[in-house]
Amino acid sequence: MIIAIDGPAASGKGTLARRLAQHFGLPHLDTGMLYRGVARQMLDEGLRLDNIDAATSVALSFEPQLVDEDRLRGREMGEAASVIAAHPPVRSALLALQRAFAQQPGGAVLDGRDIGTVICPQAAVKLFVTATPEVRAERRALELTGRGEPVDTAAILADIRLRDERDSHRSSAPLMIASDAVLLDTSSFDVAGMVAAALAIIAEKAGR
Ligand code: C5P
Repeated sequence: MIIAIDGPAASGKGTLARRLAQHFGLPHLDTGMLYRGVARQMLDEGLRLDNIDAATSVALSFEPQLVDEDRLRGREMGEAASVIAAHPPVRSALLALQRAFAQQPGGAVLDGRDIGTVICPQAAVKLFVTATPEVRAERRALELTGRGEPVDTAAILADIRLRDERDSHRSSAPLMIASDAVLLDTSSFDVAGMVAAALAIIAEKAGR
């Protein structure tokens, strides 16, 4: 069973994807980490993020198993990832890797922006996870506080709005709900509530 989870930044989709993967014993791929990883490597090599040829060649030779996830977290890397993710050849370069992951025997859980629309249009279950920008900013702020990092909620909200705008309006694979996806608004849910709601949808869609 392939479970495709899409949604905007800080919607809770990553947490949901990890929980569902654990629940069903499936492998999980956070596809945002691929875009973050490519952006990180470019910055490490002193390359400009708007250099499409350079971004494409980094994406083509990208080895996800070599990434240090701790260096990919944070607002700045999310922003950098969204810049290179808007280059169509970068998206094409990362496509095969994501599809191969999804097609493992037994299935997989993938989360991102275009899983249900482009990467796995055949997924048995598609969830589009969202929450209001204010709730998402609040969650991100709590997460940063928990890690002892400084928090500026207004800046986080501005960043979320900017990323929503860029991810939703790019020409290639924009963030949008697949016609056969179920919308899950988590604004008023805690993690347990969100997981329970998703499990109910999966039971109905896939009988699992
Ligand atoms: O999900 P995360 O915040 O880690 O993603 C970082 C950025 O990578 C997103 O804002 C988006 O621009 C890009 N991305 C994408 N397609 C995906 C996953 C992430 O374009 N499947």
